[in-house]
Amino acid sequence: MKDILNVDVGSLFSEEGDANFISTPDFETLCAANSSSFEEVRLSLENKTSPITTSFSTELLLDDIKKIAGYLRGHYKNMLVLGIGGSTLGFRTIFQSLKGPYYNHETLRDNYPRVFVLDNVDPIPVNYLEKVLDFKETAIVYISKSGSTPEPAANFIHFYKKYMEAGGNPKDIVIICDPGDNGINHIANDLKCHLLHIPAALPGRYTVLSPVGFLPSEVIGIDSKQFLEGANRVHNAILTTPLRENAVFILGTGIAELARKGKTIHTMFSYSTILQEFGLWFAQLWGESLGKEKSLTGETINAGTTPLPALGATDQHSVLQLFKEGPNDKIFGFVTIENFPTDVKLTDPFPSENEYSYFAGHTMSEQLKIEQISTEISLVHSKRPCYRLTLPELSAYTLGGLFYFMEALVIFSAKLWNIYPFDQPGVEEGKNMTYALMGRKDYASVRPKYEEVLKKYRAGGRRIKH
Ligand code: PA5
Repeated sequence: MKDILNVDVGSLFSEEGDANFISTPDFETLCAANSSSFEEVRLSLENKTSPITTSFSTELLLDDIKKIAGYLRGHYKNMLVLGIGGSTLGFRTIFQSLKGPYYNHETLRDNYPRVFVLDNVDPIPVNYLEKVLDFKETAIVYISKSGSTPEPAANFIHFYKKYMEAGGNPKDIVIICDPGDNGINHIANDLKCHLLHIPAALPGRYTVLSPVGFLPSEVIGIDSKQFLEGANRVHNAILTTPLRENAVFILGTGIAELARKGKTIHTMFSYSTILQEFGLWFAQLWGESLGKEKSLTGETINAGTTPLPALGATDQHSVLQLFKEGPNDKIFGFVTIENFPTDVKLTDPFPSENEYSYFAGHTMSEQLKIEQISTEISLVHSKRPCYRLTLPELSAYTLGGLFYFMEALVIFSAKLWNIYPFDQPGVEEGKNMTYALMGRKDYASVRPKYEEVLKKYRAGGRRIKH
């Protein structure tokens, strides 16, 4: 069987008793301390009680998903995906990784629809989009697990209107959301449009392996069954690999221990432009799942480490200086590709110029890989702990494995920090205030309170005009 994901954890460890790394005796102690937590996570994966395992149940929806996607493909020139956070970051990662940055150019997409993802409430991109899209030819895919998130809701009502004004067929709209008796389901039923449900137990930022990631992928010709097969392969590896060789166990244990020793920033250094969006997906998953004020037993612990996406080699000319010589408060995850799907052989047009002639005979993927490992080694030399995730190739199969691996890692990390990884109470206050100030009816009673808060806050500001 081909490899799906290789994880190198060697540079989290040091035998020299350096507190910036983990020593073998420390690891032995941690194995004893953390093994039962890991076995609990394993059990929840094995008996399918962990929310992330509900992704596997979505295999039953694949026929429907493929049918809807085939229809959209045949009838529309563009696909406009509306969502935010967990409802779009996964597809953005897939789209960038498997279709590349220039997909929308006609010569690259083989007659598949162009793709536009809107995941902010911002009139500027909306205005640009209106200049490039013919709405009659634009399939709308509206994704919101809760259906109440204000940003995609604003985009949906706006683009629904545009689509209808252009003579669109409401039945062609796709809505992907939680099952339930709520606004988004009522709208879907009224429109008689395509409606796909996300497993109720699967929290938003864990939904990439569900209709959320699958439907838009299928529209552009990606076989979503491959994601599930990759996830399943990693699922089985997590269950069967012994503790001391188990990548989820070692990484979770290592990251938690190093966090305790002050490595409070978790950098994800993607070594390919194609994997840049993965860093953003990771940041949401890590930050929203693990940044928690309270423990499961109610103590104030302010848990979590700060996710920080970076792009190699580009950021070697930006934040790397800080990474190497600034505060030693970070752990570095690298994500790399072993076999690039394509390559560029470098030539020798200026043989007499020292700075240019050494490229001859090398390829760009070779250069990128050499730059990655050189950067990693240089960070280790400055006593910065590192680990590396390598995808043997870029495919829906390996991406499915990578997504599932990171989700399991987050769940195990949460177990070690004694926190709940499936909610996000910290985002509620701002959301409630937005609802109230925007005049949502069921928030009318708290509106005066928030207006007062806003007035006081504005009065307390120190504005400096130029
Ligand atoms: O993980 C989560 O639940 C959130 O980050 C959501 O993904 C995000 O808020 C979007 O929510 P929804 O899909 O309900 O519109």
